[in-house]
Amino acid sequence: MDTPPRSAHLILVGLPGAGKSTVGGALARRLGLPFLDFDPEIERRAGASVTEIFRGRGEEAFRAMELALTRELATRPPMVLAPGGGWVAIPGAMALLRPPARMIYLRVRPDVALLRMGQERRARPLLENADPLAAIRRLLAAREGAYLSADHVVDVDDVGIEELTAYLARLAEGRMEG
Ligand code: S3P
Repeated sequence: MDTPPRSAHLILVGLPGAGKSTVGGALARRLGLPFLDFDPEIERRAGASVTEIFRGRGEEAFRAMELALTRELATRPPMVLAPGGGWVAIPGAMALLRPPARMIYLRVRPDVALLRMGQERRARPLLENADPLAAIRRLLAAREGAYLSADHVVDVDDVGIEELTAYLARLAEGRMEG
């Protein structure tokens, strides 16, 4: 039997606090596509929060869940996807979707990301740390190469959600180089 063709998803990647979930939802509405936010979907399936999964089953189990979800999505109709910030570092994950999926890196400075997250940082086990700025910088250093392999890199430090959504929609529709 022929394998169905892979879908041309639009994947938003970047550090926690980059705005993937907020912008992803707005962008999907604008493009008339479904939106899938990985963390809430994994939490729904596991019946546990990301923090509980990390604590109870370990980070590796969480990464396996992210990979399994990615595998399922390869042949589903096109969507806007917002995987968690560590998804790009899971061996083989990006290659399950791209090509033909396109990946956009929402690049945020680590200090800005932390500010934006505020108390929400507590829901990120990898940042539950005495020095969260050092922790998020380490995550960036480890992942930056993968983030920069995106088809488009967009700096989001000084952009509001509406302006950013409009910009990404133009990028997604191929009306702009980025
Ligand atoms: C993680 C980012 C989180 C979540 C988990 C691990 C990471 O998602 O998947 O806490 O490794 O950077 P967000 O990027 O949506 O915060």
